[in-house]
Amino acid sequence: MSNSIKLAILGLGTVGTGVIHLINDNLDELKRRCGRDIIITEVGTRRQRDDIDTNIMQNSDLMAIAASDNVDIVIEVIGGTTLAKDVIMQAIQHGKHVVTANKALLAEHGNEIFAYAEANNVHVAYEAAVAGGIPIIKVMREALAANKIDWLAGIINGTGNFIMTEMRDKGRPFADVLVEAQELGYAEADPTFDVEGIDAAHKLALLASIAFGVPLQFDSVYCEGITGITLQDVSYAEELGYRIKHLGFAVRRDGNGDSDAAGIELRVHPTLIPQDALLANVNGVKNAVLVNSHPLGQTLYCGDGAGAGATASAVMADVMDLVRVLGSKDNNNQSHSDQKNHGHHVPHLAFIPEQLSDTPILRAEQMITGYYLRVHAYDSPGVLADITRILSDAGINIDAILQKPAHKVGQVPVIILTLPVVESQMNLAIEKIEKLDTITDKVVRIRLDELA
Ligand code: HSE
Repeated sequence: MSNSIKLAILGLGTVGTGVIHLINDNLDELKRRCGRDIIITEVGTRRQRDDIDTNIMQNSDLMAIAASDNVDIVIEVIGGTTLAKDVIMQAIQHGKHVVTANKALLAEHGNEIFAYAEANNVHVAYEAAVAGGIPIIKVMREALAANKIDWLAGIINGTGNFIMTEMRDKGRPFADVLVEAQELGYAEADPTFDVEGIDAAHKLALLASIAFGVPLQFDSVYCEGITGITLQDVSYAEELGYRIKHLGFAVRRDGNGDSDAAGIELRVHPTLIPQDALLANVNGVKNAVLVNSHPLGQTLYCGDGAGAGATASAVMADVMDLVRVLGSKDNNNQSHSDQKNHGHHVPHLAFIPEQLSDTPILRAEQMITGYYLRVHAYDSPGVLADITRILSDAGINIDAILQKPAHKVGQVPVIILTLPVVESQMNLAIEKIEKLDTITDKVVRIRLDELA
């Protein structure tokens, strides 16, 4: 076939190697689908590798590769936010399309990168940056383009979900499961990004911008990880019909009164969800994103969220899209400047840049969720009444209460589930509960969502 597409792969870690394997395994399929040959001309790697085809040029100078005439599409899979940013900007400046799996970079610098790409009339494709192999970017930007999105909730960190699943099902220790996730190539270079929720927050920032047409605002995402979750809370939640999952939420609030502010909630945290919810049954390294949109309603997208094969699949889907864009340019014989027209491609953040909205991101105290509370109290008359009175005075509606027999002499754990409440009200109520003489420890709180 004529008109070969020349790829450069920057970074030969789990993902870069996965892309090479995918191309080797499925080359015939790829060619038949895009009508052109796809060849890797250059790879960026710190040290020479003897497992790479000798026709492929190996170079440790990534900036040179990003500017090379022998490259049409640059695949950035080195990660990080410094060199990765420089090579992407370099590629854009040299008129090359970019495919990246780098959620941290886009969440933190995406507004600048996308604007630069628009100005240079190239695309920065990033399907692999969110939820691994699930084509959620394509779904939200294209398949749901006619819908107004009200909220989305997602399990968007495979490592965290893998750890939570193994702990719950097998009682395995946290650290042990994390090491396995690293060995399987699921975890970030710095695994605290996975377990502290930062990786999920990066992905949520991207999803929220696509959902609501707001600029990327990673710094405004409320972020809690899974390190504080105990097996005790997992088991109380199960007893009450719920399961604890680490979820990212992006929610549009219209506001309907003094305490309910209008804006967007961006939050990542452990959450109790009903055991029979589909999301509660997404286990292991699987990710899933539940989108509630109008008029479509709820749709769920599920698949492997990390690992070489899943991520390479997403990277190459983007490459194929770009090959088609390049193909149509050749076919139409349009000049570069003629292409500067939003109608020719899906906008990076789904909405055309001039139409991005300034809807505010709500502060944590303004967010509305249900709660699971674990309160430890002395086993004496009136304790429960004191706690429930404080909650009722704060206008907090109790949905369920579970009081366990004293596990230490004279102390009882009391588990309370509440209906949704503005966080500032819950903060005040917890402050008052913790001041009661009968309360022995800090109140443990985990958010709860019925996903309805
Ligand atoms: N560390 C990430 C995860 C990789 O576990 O989901 C995919 O983004």
